[in-house]
Amino acid sequence: MPRCETNMDTTETFQKDWALEQEDTLHPPMVTVEIAGKVYQVPAGITLLKALWYTGHEVIRGAGCLGGFCGACATYYRTKDDPKVKTCLACSFAVEDGMAFSFAPPFPARKAIYQISELQDPKQDLFELYPEAPMCRNCNACTEACPQSIDVREGVWRAVFGDFKSVSDMFMNCVMCGLCAPVCIADIAPNLVAIYASRVQGAHFTEKPKDIEARIKAIEEGQYEKDWERILRMSDEELQQATVSCP
Ligand code: SF4
Ligand code: SF4
Ligand code: FES
Repeated sequence: MPRCETNMDTTETFQKDWALEQEDTLHPPMVTVEIAGKVYQVPAGITLLKALWYTGHEVIRGAGCLGGFCGACATYYRTKDDPKVKTCLACSFAVEDGMAFSFAPPFPARKAIYQISELQDPKQDLFELYPEAPMCRNCNACTEACPQSIDVREGVWRAVFGDFKSVSDMFMNCVMCGLCAPVCIADIAPNLVAIYASRVQGAHFTEKPKDIEARIKAIEEGQYEKDWERILRMSDEELQQATVSCP
């Protein structure tokens, strides 16, 4: 009966695939890596961060979002036979055979303290807060170090020339891993210069949406106090009901 035979074929194929997957899960192919100078065998294809856990390293500092967003897992690595040390985010980068890697240690870059709302001339204030910023020597090491492929050198120059709008656009994907700072021969922390420019752009130079401003003003004037008090008095059931019946 052709129909049954087809079903049997499908079942057999499925069982074979499943058995192969199980084999891969239980006995994955292994690769050799060097973590902080010590050699280990780890499953091929796992991330550097998982390799640290797999080999029993205690990761207290260096793990956050696990998705390439928080920048906590800044890492130096080198691939087999390549003398060049590169950078990556350990949670989003896979091990390969012969790779050597270590977490980047915290770098004590100087962070300027400022109250963004009190800045009178924010473009000029950059030179007070980060006087080293115009000393960039165009070496491009910061750009090469950036795991997010940001043109960091260009961003520093744009900040110096007051083009804060471009800086805030260019550094949209900056995860503040800080890998651009230790490589700078002019002692600039490009990420801190960029975040200053981006904050200033948002606070001082970007037009605020009128509706949001009106709503914030209404909240400040207490227009929603009664509604808020009513919500705080609601039981869980009443809250659920109110949420469900929301348009
Ligand atoms: S600009 Fe600097 S801090 Fe931002 S992602 Fe690139 S290397 Fe990390
Ligand atoms: S590493 Fe420093 S000196 Fe070199 S390009 Fe970047 S900001 Fe300029
Ligand atoms: S843990 Fe957040 S970027 Fe890697």
